[in-house]
Amino acid sequence: MKNIGTPLSSAALKVMVLGSGELGKEVIIALQRLGVETIAVDRYDYAPGQQVAHHARTITMSDPSALRELILKEKPDLVVPEIEAIATPVLQELETAGVVRVIPTARAARLTMDREGIRRLAAETLGLPTSPYQFCNSLEELQAAIEDGIGYPCVVKPVMSSSGKGQSKIDGPGDVKKAWDYAMAGGRVGHGRIIVEGFIDFDYEITQLTVRAIGVNGEIETQFCDPIGHVQVSGDYVESWQPHPMHPKALQRARDIAKAVTDNLGGQGLFGVELFVKGEQVWFSEVSPRPHDTGMVTMITQWQNEFELHARAILGLPVNTAIKSPGASAVIYGGVDAKALQFEGVADALSIPNTDIRLFGKPESFVKRRMGVALAFDADVDLARTKAKAAASKVKPRII
Ligand SMILES: Nc1ncnc2c1ncn2[C@@H]1O[C@H](COP(=O)(O)OP(=O)(O)OP(=O)(O)O)[C@@H](O)[C@H]1O
Ligand SMILES: [Mg+2]
Repeated sequence: MKNIGTPLSSAALKVMVLGSGELGKEVIIALQRLGVETIAVDRYDYAPGQQVAHHARTITMSDPSALRELILKEKPDLVVPEIEAIATPVLQELETAGVVRVIPTARAARLTMDREGIRRLAAETLGLPTSPYQFCNSLEELQAAIEDGIGYPCVVKPVMSSSGKGQSKIDGPGDVKKAWDYAMAGGRVGHGRIIVEGFIDFDYEITQLTVRAIGVNGEIETQFCDPIGHVQVSGDYVESWQPHPMHPKALQRARDIAKAVTDNLGGQGLFGVELFVKGEQVWFSEVSPRPHDTGMVTMITQWQNEFELHARAILGLPVNTAIKSPGASAVIYGGVDAKALQFEGVADALSIPNTDIRLFGKPESFVKRRMGVALAFDADVDLARTKAKAAASKVKPRII
């Protein structure tokens, strides 16, 4: 790996971040703190990460020729995908040609960009426990899959979607058509392919942040953060906390699953492994080969947050995954559809002891768009959750 050098000079170590939302922004900040030259790419201007990077570029990242052209022009040392909707075959082509290194690997980016690649890898290749599932291309296939074994309740998701878009639960035959239509409207690319999964009646779900970084012996080692608990509403995270208490056997299983998946995906970097837990039983759900939204809590709980861990791991630097304090995060939604907003109540929020907030600076707000996050630490997770939620509720986006 090339050394870090003076940004904006020929000696610079240049990193291109594909996807410059709140997670990409924090990765960029972490890289800049280490003296890396950063190029923030997004599909719209003034994305959060573009506001803090050395260079801002706006392209359609799912357009193969636009992506190839940009990478060849900017010549970054590393390409760091921060979202799923990317023309991943181009990343594979350029990685194979030795033009760039893709984080963690181009194959990992490709397999995780649609639910089918990663689910088949986890369940069929690695034999990991998952919900029962089928892939369907039509309403008829969906009905047949449910009748032939998936049963009720079940969950339908477009194969290409994130943050719960197009996802719904089916409780009985009357819901099937509605779920199909909703999935068709919510998928990223209208291919009409969905996954139907048997509903797992879990006690709780966690994100197991897992880091593949160079260890003391010069080899890649796997390290784990403390488990992160979270609450999802309509497939979107609203609250998370760390550490989530777990039965030692469940924790061991969670880590074994996380290790198996991340070993296979390979490369260096941080991964967010999503798992469902019931008693001592653990199911693999999905994995992000990059920082995870629920992991924003680590900005207040860990010595090195998930973005710093990612930055260090990809640069070949040592990492420390230790927790500093129990803590929690609570999402601040836009609450309104508007282009220019002001946030009232920020001082009130921060007057709650042990809290902090991040406002992402997104140029446009939607009712359900994540505009910021409140963070809190405390002696235990329950106290921290109460404070994080209270702080989030004080921040009121207003149209001016
Ligand atoms: N088979 C299932 N059984 C029970 N709950 C499920 C199942 N699949 C999904 N869920 C619930 O829906 C949430 C979102 O699902 P999933 O992570 O697959 O979607 P997503 O769109 O990728 O969301 P995100 O991008 O926010 O991770 C899960 O965290 C879980 O709470
Ligand atoms: Mg998920």
